[in-house]
Amino acid sequence: MQRTLVLIKPDAMKRRLAGRILTRLEDKGLALVGLKIMQVTPDLAKQHYAEHVAKPFYPELEEFITSGPVVAICLEGPEAITVTRGMMGKTNGRESAPGTIRGDFGMSRQLNLIHGSDSPEASDREIPLYFSDEELVGSTDGMVGTFF
Ligand code: PPS
Repeated sequence: MQRTLVLIKPDAMKRRLAGRILTRLEDKGLALVGLKIMQVTPDLAKQHYAEHVAKPFYPELEEFITSGPVVAICLEGPEAITVTRGMMGKTNGRESAPGTIRGDFGMSRQLNLIHGSDSPEASDREIPLYFSDEELVGSTDGMVGTFF
C-alpha cells in the first residue's frame, strides 16, 4: 500500500476540471485519504519544487502554481505513485498519450493540470508539506470495494 500527493493545478481549476480529474482517479480505485482546496504560497512553492528552484523556468512555475487555488489530494492504493503517474501522462500535454489526463485535456508543459509525486521519496517529502497527520484518514486497507 502506497500514498501519493496529487495537486489539481490552477489551470485545471480555472477550467472547472477538478471534478472530472478526481473522478478519473477514484474510478481507477485509488482511495482518497486527504483532500482540500488551498492557495499555494511562494514559500510552499519553493519547498515543493526545491529541486527546480535554480532552473531558468522556476519563476514562471512559481507564478503559475500560486496564481489561483489548487486541490491538494493524498491518494492511497497499491503502487499509487506509478498508477497515478501513468494516468497523468507525460509532463507536456502535447507529448502525452490520449487517454491520459494531460493527453486528453492539455497542450502545454506548464499548464499541465496535475502534479503527482514521482517516487516514494518524493511522496514522503511532499505529503507533509500539504497535510498534517490530523488531516489524513487512517489506512483504507480492507475498505469494501476499494481494491478488487
Ligand atoms: S525537469 O527539468 O525535466 O526535471 O522538469 P520536469 O520533471 O519535466 O518538470 C518539473 C516541473 O516543472 C514544470 N515545468 C515547467 N514549468 C514552467 N515552464 C517550463 N518550461 C517548465 N518545464 C517544466 C513541470 O510542469 C513540472 O511540474 P510538476 O508539478 O512536477 O508536474
